[in-house]
Amino acid sequence: MTARILLLALAGLTLTACDSIDPNSPLGQRKALFQQMLRTSEDMGGMLRGRVGFDERRFAEQAVLLDNLSRQPWQHFPQVREENSSARDELWQRRERLDALARDLEARTAELVVAVSQPPLQPRALGEPFARVEQACKACHEEFRIY
Ligand code: HEC
Repeated sequence: MTARILLLALAGLTLTACDSIDPNSPLGQRKALFQQMLRTSEDMGGMLRGRVGFDERRFAEQAVLLDNLSRQPWQHFPQVREENSSARDELWQRRERLDALARDLEARTAELVVAVSQPPLQPRALGEPFARVEQACKACHEEFRIY
């Protein structure tokens, strides 16, 4: 019992040590969502580019997941900028632009879901709708993300 508590405490310490962002804070929550979006889209891109084998069912599931995830980070942008955010200051002055770019991503992921809704799926036919999703990520990052 004591050992378990100690372990939990240690795990907590390690987390704080490598990343001081509270996972339950708005920043922590949207970072986790963005990371999941990245993993999902990288996986899909890998299948389309032949890095890993194309699995029709998995690709379709990930398209739905990505569409779902793409609707979530925006509610976690607070009114005021946090210290550790890697978003540009102007994001907080141009919220309507952020919202427009977010709606654009959501529209692109919705199109991807339509594209995967009719099997059999052809990787070649999915390249274009997938590239439009990636383009929507990039467009917003170019405007608002600090690398
Ligand atoms: C409407 C704007 C917007 C769109 C669209 C967008 N992002 Fe981002 N993204 C941001 C901002 C702003 C940040 C900076 C971190 C913060 O403060 O939220 C960010 C950060 C990230 C990060 C870094 C998270 C971290 O751990 O710091 C990843 C990964 C990421 N985005 C992936 C994606 C992927 C993948 C897509 C498309 C599927 C996408 N984003 C689409 C605005 C956007």
